[in-house]
Amino acid sequence: MLNFIYDSIAWEEKQVIRQLQADNIKLNLINAKDHPLNLTGKLDMEGPAVIRCMSARRSLYYSYILESHGIKTINSFKTFNIAGNKAFTTSFLYKNGINTPDTVIAFSRDSAIQASEDMGYPVVFKPATGSWGRMISLIKDSNMAETVFSMNDMVAENSYYIQKFVERPPRDVRVIMVGGKISASIYRYSGDGWKTNLYLGGKVEKAVLGREETEIIMKVSDLFGPGIIGIDAMESENGFTVHEVNSRVEFKGASRVYGDAITKDIAEYLKHLD
Ligand SMILES: Nc1ncnc2c1ncn2[C@@H]1O[C@H](COP(=O)(O)OP(=O)(O)O)[C@@H](O)[C@H]1O
Ligand SMILES: [Mg+2]
Repeated sequence: MLNFIYDSIAWEEKQVIRQLQADNIKLNLINAKDHPLNLTGKLDMEGPAVIRCMSARRSLYYSYILESHGIKTINSFKTFNIAGNKAFTTSFLYKNGINTPDTVIAFSRDSAIQASEDMGYPVVFKPATGSWGRMISLIKDSNMAETVFSMNDMVAENSYYIQKFVERPPRDVRVIMVGGKISASIYRYSGDGWKTNLYLGGKVEKAVLGREETEIIMKVSDLFGPGIIGIDAMESENGFTVHEVNSRVEFKGASRVYGDAITKDIAEYLKHLD
């Protein structure tokens, strides 16, 4: 029995569930919202679990608790924990010798402004947790820094993830890893703005990775271990630089060029989990 944990069914979840059902795989569909987890007793769950919650926090809880009960989860707690936070991801990549953009995390508005001055504009501000390009801002001078950081001051989290703006072509690279293998690699071109999130309306093209790029991607994949992840990278003047790892990777955009191959890779991988 394969447990499929979700909290809402987006396009990706629908595709994978359909494929698994077409392949006659026994599925236990669990809506995390309706399914409290017993921390101090046995869980009524058998077999491995794939966790695809929209809420990163739910995935974090589910992976930790299921793993504690000896259940294999995709992705692992380690992956959800590190990839779910851009500061942890950057720190982890750097520690392991992966080229990643220069980044600082500050913990107050004023030290964030100072850190940006020290880094040199333009800088990119990102919420440490979040996706779809939300609240990510390109800061060009100290006036803008003050505006953006003052606004961030008013929202819950008092951390300021500040990254050097990477000069690159108007595209980035998204690689979808399934079970430690490259399932798809695409270029994502920015739509109107500078961000390349497809959610914001960019276009997609198949990416052909060179030997060095492939090596970097495989090294990142090995650091996280097999699972279903997305690795985002940019082609900078100083070479390939990895800026994000996605632990609930979307592949609707990539499927525009890869068809149902990614869904099939995922189903095939999940079928053979033990
Ligand atoms: N340091 C940077 N320099 C230039 N562009 C960036 C930088 N960081 C992010 N971007 C652009 O913004 C997009 C979103 O950033 P990312 O870190 O992937 O966050 P998320 O996908 O979680 O919103 C990237 O795909 C890329 O196009
Ligand atoms: Mg991204």
